Amino acid sequence: MMGIEDLRHEHNEISLMLDVMGRICELLDAGENIDPVHIKQLYDFMVVFVDECHHGKEEEFLFPKLESINGEESKKLIGVLIAEHKVGREYASIIVEAISNHENIDLESRSKIIKYGRNYIKLLTQHFNKENKILFTMAEKKLSDKENQELFEEFEIVVKEKIGMNKCEQLHEMLHQLADIYL
Ligand SMILES: [Fe+2]
Ligand SMILES: [Fe+2]
Repeated sequence: MMGIEDLRHEHNEISLMLDVMGRICELLDAGENIDPVHIKQLYDFMVVFVDECHHGKEEEFLFPKLESINGEESKKLIGVLIAEHKVGREYASIIVEAISNHENIDLESRSKIIKYGRNYIKLLTQHFNKENKILFTMAEKKLSDKENQELFEEFEIVVKEKIGMNKCEQLHEMLHQLADIYL
């Protein structure tokens, strides 16, 4: 497996989560009740898989490697991408705050989840477009096959040492259960 290929796969998996979130926002907007547990599960996915795992792979290994190869050319874009990771983190914490201490989601929390859920979807959708079309394409051109494979080996360190294989599998299973419920 190549490092960049792994990141593209993860974008697809995260996009499934965004679809679930979009549906939950739609239902909340229509006045339906949503189990707060499901929103907490989405939050766990956002924090552990999206941020610690996926953004961790990019920030710890891919971005520094590209900057060292490509210098100024990629520096500005990478600065923007890191700033977007940070904004995503802020939206996720607003969403989890909205459900904390609530067995049922009240009106104020409902509108917060809808607003920041939709902001999060918009942010990550355009972020993934930028990475898929510009950054990853550039990386695939600049990195040799060997460097791209080494990148994947470095990514495995993030999964095994920072997150844990079991935790990763649990999160994916949970996402697919939510997809079965909502999509
Ligand atoms: Fe990213
Ligand atoms: Fe990404």
